[in-house]
Amino acid sequence: MESVKRIKFSFNKPVSYTYLYDRSDEIKKLSETESAFLLGPLGIGKTSLLKSYLIHKKCSALWINGERIRNFNAFINSLKRQYGELLKNILAKKESGPLSELNAPLLEIESYKEGKSDRYTFLNNFLDELTFISDQKICLVIDDFTQIRKIGLAFLDISRSIYKASKKRKINILLASSELGYAKEILEKKDLPLEKAFSVLTLKPFGLEDSADFLSKGLEGYGVSCPKKYIGDSYYVSEGFPLWLSLIGLRMLEGKCNPEGIYTDRRAQLFWVEKMTRLSVKEKYILRLIAKGESYRSVGPHSRRALISLIRRGYIIKNKQEEIVDPVLQYLLKMELI
Ligand SMILES: Nc1ncnc2c1ncn2[C@@H]1O[C@H](COP(=O)(O)OP(=O)(O)O)[C@@H](O)[C@H]1O
Ligand SMILES: [Mg+2]
Repeated sequence: MESVKRIKFSFNKPVSYTYLYDRSDEIKKLSETESAFLLGPLGIGKTSLLKSYLIHKKCSALWINGERIRNFNAFINSLKRQYGELLKNILAKKESGPLSELNAPLLEIESYKEGKSDRYTFLNNFLDELTFISDQKICLVIDDFTQIRKIGLAFLDISRSIYKASKKRKINILLASSELGYAKEILEKKDLPLEKAFSVLTLKPFGLEDSADFLSKGLEGYGVSCPKKYIGDSYYVSEGFPLWLSLIGLRMLEGKCNPEGIYTDRRAQLFWVEKMTRLSVKEKYILRLIAKGESYRSVGPHSRRALISLIRRGYIIKNKQEEIVDPVLQYLLKMELI
């Protein structure tokens, strides 16, 4: 257990370094590696950890949110915007090289847009130029990285150039994904061994003690109290997922101490309803069967494919049997609350 900085309960909003609880080992591990791939289900705290890490390391960063990338142009625009921000920081800190070097990444973008280079060449040049803009390390973060796969072939170009850039000393590449199956496939690709270039860090839920400590110290900070039994039970409802512990904490601040109340909380239900709109009818159907412990094999010829897609997207993990990864989603589906 670490000495607590401060605790904030916020639902589905990543926290940053001041409020980051119980992740000092992970911060240390990230500090010891060049490039890392963070894995872990939704709500486990990947984005919070990345944000905190950048602050802790005072790293000048480009931050790409994979979920927002609909096509390659969006990726470039995101790079351009982020580079603008980074420039401001570098100039403010007076750490920059000569102006021509600061301009070079932007020129690469222009020349790509004018059709003077292909995607892969452009990305390589852009990432190359980044290494000259400052004496300090540059961090390139791509959160929800595997979501970019939706843009098709360009995703392969992005992956290849990232692999290449991960070998450069002056760029620290940090990727994150909750789509466990897709992430593993990308890491294990034979022709693009990201696995060799990236240290894989799998984020775990808080343990029983930390979960109780997180809640009780948090409540104390706000001057609110709840019966001890409820604090203890919270671990079993949330399985230590910071997302659900935070919602339980928020509800406790609202005077609702029973952790099981999150099952009927609109915020929890909407969270999953909204995510599940991206699944096919068949995938949703199979997810419900699994939640109820029923066999999905009766569903017909495409059930296998839907199952694989659910595993790739990180909804399901296959141990002895298929299990739904998120404890709250499992309950909501089983009890037909969503
Ligand atoms: N280490 C942590 N300390 C405190 N709160 C956290 C921590 N990790 C996550 N949270 C909380 O959990 C929720 C989900 O975190 P987030 O970083 O968005 O997860 P992910 O990116 O893995 O989906 C956020 O609302 C955040 O407040
Ligand atoms: Mg996230």
